[in-house]
Amino acid sequence: MEKTAKKIQMVDLKSQYEKIKTDVDTAIQNVINNTAFINGPEVKAFQAELEKYLGVKHVIPCANGTDALQIVMMALDLKPGDEVITANFTYVATAEVIALLGLKPVLVDVNPDTFDIDVKAIEKAIGPKTKAIVPVHLFGQCANMEQVMALAKKHNLFVIEDVAQAIGAEYTFSDGKKQKAGTIGTVGCTSFFPSKNLGCYGDGGAMYTNDDQLAAKIRMISNHGQSVQYVHDSIGVNSRLDSIQAAILRIKLRELDHYAAARNKAADYYDKALANNPKIKTPVRATFSDHVFHQYTLQLNGVNRTALREYLADKDIPAMIYYPIPLHMQKAYADPRYKEGDFPVTEKLCASVISLPMHTELDNETLKYITDSVLEFVNK
Ligand SMILES: Cc1ncc(COP(=O)(O)O)c(C=O)c1O
Repeated sequence: MEKTAKKIQMVDLKSQYEKIKTDVDTAIQNVINNTAFINGPEVKAFQAELEKYLGVKHVIPCANGTDALQIVMMALDLKPGDEVITANFTYVATAEVIALLGLKPVLVDVNPDTFDIDVKAIEKAIGPKTKAIVPVHLFGQCANMEQVMALAKKHNLFVIEDVAQAIGAEYTFSDGKKQKAGTIGTVGCTSFFPSKNLGCYGDGGAMYTNDDQLAAKIRMISNHGQSVQYVHDSIGVNSRLDSIQAAILRIKLRELDHYAAARNKAADYYDKALANNPKIKTPVRATFSDHVFHQYTLQLNGVNRTALREYLADKDIPAMIYYPIPLHMQKAYADPRYKEGDFPVTEKLCASVISLPMHTELDNETLKYITDSVLEFVNK
């Protein structure tokens, strides 16, 4: 098997940049020329363009996705001791901010096929102190928002959508109505970390909501709890998207649907090439969501994952484990309520998943090399 000429990366941001280089370089230079580095016109324009793209009333940009989650939990007046239910199989940031604010993260398992939060498990976890649910749209596919929203309505809970990995994904309700991920719950939180589907060239994030009052509060908390300059109505934080990042994001937002199409094309190739192998389970597409393939994640069955990763690394093919340790098995989130074996799906996924390179610049030659190499090892 021939190695490809180009170095394979999990995410190839350089090749992506080459295609928009002129626009990006000009946009950055313009910000430098007008020196409106913070809260300049680029930030306001990006905010308005993202509101239009998502079909949501308010987008409030901030410094990163972790801040977004923290700020909305502050804006919703969640208080120490309040319980917030979230998925165990997620990036740590989701649970981190809950714990940081003195709230209690209540972890629940996920569905084994689609990796999304198990709604029956949420229902079982709801108690008198529960205040909010944080569904995570993991790997680029929406959680079952219709069911999550029904449960939230029944129990009068906030829904904070973690859209860090799924910006642009669309949820389809049972009546056929479609809505973008992050615009369905009380509020959505996203990240513009460089490798995200809409990534800037540094850190960035945003919160979105249709609730005017909540938007005003989020805006205030992001800006030192300030209502009018030097008047502070609540304790806030300093969390801003800078103008250079906003200028870059405006250009990349125009490409976002093309980027999702390119990711889907790569996913289709992987699906076909790796189909019908009892040792590999390719990602299952949920009926209620499209997929923007932030990650392409396989479940291995009877394959030595570490050895596969080493075998691929020897062929210059990177592969990552998202995520190797369930939250309840992490030292920082250890809790006497939880022990090994309590979250069988999450635990099995953490032991068996492997993510292959996924980005907007994968060509068939590279995909063939990757899938041939995976099969070569698996079928040995
Ligand atoms: C599911 C999830 N939530 C939250 C975050 C936090 O975003 P950021 O890295 O911008 O703080 C990430 C990003 O890695 C994520 O994947």
